[in-house]
Amino acid sequence: MTAGDNKSSNVVWHEAQVTRAMRESRNGHRGAVLWFTGLSGAGKSTLAHAVEERLHAMGAHTFVIDGDNVRHGLCADLGFSDADRVENIRRVAELAGLFVQAGVLTLTAFISPFRADRAQARKLLGDDFIEIHCDTPLDVCEARDVKGLYKRARAGEIPAFTGISSPYEAPQHAEIVVQTATQSIEACVDQIVDWLAARHMIQQQGDS
Ligand code: ADX
Repeated sequence: MTAGDNKSSNVVWHEAQVTRAMRESRNGHRGAVLWFTGLSGAGKSTLAHAVEERLHAMGAHTFVIDGDNVRHGLCADLGFSDADRVENIRRVAELAGLFVQAGVLTLTAFISPFRADRAQARKLLGDDFIEIHCDTPLDVCEARDVKGLYKRARAGEIPAFTGISSPYEAPQHAEIVVQTATQSIEACVDQIVDWLAARHMIQQQGDS
């Protein structure tokens, strides 16, 4: 489905009495989406969960929306064709937008390989969209091969596998770029949390 084919006619938007601003005020921080993108095995999920753990410990309201999990439920009807990936990312962006309205610091971990789809998500989420590129070279992801999928993709057993037989279009203007091949997870978490703190999106200990 695209924005053009909305089948829900005669439906009126209902405004909530409890607003985003009220929720954010109670939470003590604003809602936003930390959008992790990168190849399979680049460390998106690991890093998103590590950042969440740190933010949670700091008192923030957080949630991770993870590709592998969403594909078991909300997006269980989607595969890995270009069209299905487009729809996957559209749904995730919409879902993340609802979490933002709830005042939550939302972390999404999806390959999201196509620049146009991430641009759509950015358009939908505006200033709430923070793109984080897990910039890990293909050979490193392939050497890790945590799920054994690269080996199977090379053997021709998995069609349209990102990086092998389907493209990954790296971001050109990501807000944050982390090098998980050369930096520790802790260092990457520090980099992301420092970025948020510098923009007053969260308060670090000692901040007033
Ligand atoms: S996306 O391209 O639509 O953003 P998503 O992040 O949801 O992908 O799912 C990627 C995960 O699905 C990978 O980490 C991998 O475990 C699994 N997977 C299965 N088939 C493929 C494939 N053809 N290409 C990439 N990942 C795949």
